[in-house]
Amino acid sequence: MMCSECEPENGAAPLLSYVDQFRGKKVLITGGLGFIGSNLAHGLVELGAQVLIVDSLIPQYGGNLFNVADIEDQVRVNIADVRDRSSMDYLVKGQDYLFNLAGQVSHLDSMTDPFTDLEINCRSQLSILEACRYNNPGVKVVFASTRQIYGVPDYLPVDERHLVHPTDVNGINKMAGEWYHIVYNNVYGVRAASLRLTNTYGPRMRVCDARQTFLGLWFRLVLEDKELTIYGDGRQVRDLTYVDDVVDALLRIAVDEGANGHVYNLGGDEPINLLHLAQLMVELGGAGRYRLVPWPGNRKRIDIGDYYGDYRKIRSKLGWCPRVSLRDGLQRTFDFYREHRQHYWEEE
Ligand SMILES: NC(=O)c1ccc[n+]([C@@H]2O[C@H](COP(=O)([O-])OP(=O)(O)OC[C@H]3O[C@@H](n4cnc5c(N)ncnc54)[C@H](O)[C@@H]3O)[C@@H](O)[C@H]2O)c1
Repeated sequence: MMCSECEPENGAAPLLSYVDQFRGKKVLITGGLGFIGSNLAHGLVELGAQVLIVDSLIPQYGGNLFNVADIEDQVRVNIADVRDRSSMDYLVKGQDYLFNLAGQVSHLDSMTDPFTDLEINCRSQLSILEACRYNNPGVKVVFASTRQIYGVPDYLPVDERHLVHPTDVNGINKMAGEWYHIVYNNVYGVRAASLRLTNTYGPRMRVCDARQTFLGLWFRLVLEDKELTIYGDGRQVRDLTYVDDVVDALLRIAVDEGANGHVYNLGGDEPINLLHLAQLMVELGGAGRYRLVPWPGNRKRIDIGDYYGDYRKIRSKLGWCPRVSLRDGLQRTFDFYREHRQHYWEEE
């Protein structure tokens, strides 16, 4: 069901404008074995696209072959590293769309190992774009950026005009990665746009630890009937997006020529503080418990405080709005891990 608020303004793309646009199209997804990339691959296969996945399967990251097990005959998978320019030169050739999702996603890791973050989230982005410029300038590129680039918000909700002042190395490198895309769009005509994601959750996310987000680990701990720990007083507010809604946004941006050169926030209609989120997860999961603990210093120093995004731009221009409620999305995610937990974590 579409909500009437999601009707795009005059001249904007019609709702679900992409339904017929990907049939037979060649689509490359970097990071396609990861959480968001693999959900996107499922969506694109359903739409009839020819999907090529590039992923390095570095063990600490979210890549997992099980994420595409049920579509393995319908996608091609190339285990390669986006840091390898010659691989990328070859792989971008002939693609109609490139969803550029490969990334180092841990904020803490970006502080302890800043150069790996720099290599993947910044330098590789430039070489992917160079690969496009020289080998496939007609491709449309959609980049997965992050709300982390805003840092501690100056006001809420945060819109796209908000200053960027990241609190960690990951935020700086993602910001640079994003702006390379915009510059290549503006200067070289390699059509590109960027989606600034907020906390995304859903099936196929990494849940064995908190590297991707604390949320993944919380799903696992609830299902193991263990204790979640919440830092500080638990009053920090977040907005969450269910992964199907993220996939919808990525596809809308891909097919809309008016999106080229733009950045878009996502957001949710139900900002929630972490204490209430933990309570809701324990209720829906039917197990687990939670406890407030003091902030670890290394986390507090890079925390962004309260955040929720203003997504009016993508709603008015591209007709996107969140369709999956928090309760429903959490429930679907629990259902997925109840069935597939053995593929996502080892039992102790
Ligand atoms: N999940 C979120 O809440 C969130 C929020 C903001 C932004 N993002 C962005 O969305 C993108 C996808 O994130 P995700 O949540 O699916 O994470 P993920 O870790 O599940 O997926 C990232 C994938 O990229 C792959 N990868 C990492 N480095 C690579 C390299 N050098 N070469 C090839 N592949 C490599 C990983 O193996 C993994 O499969 C990332 O760029 C991330 O920064 C995600």
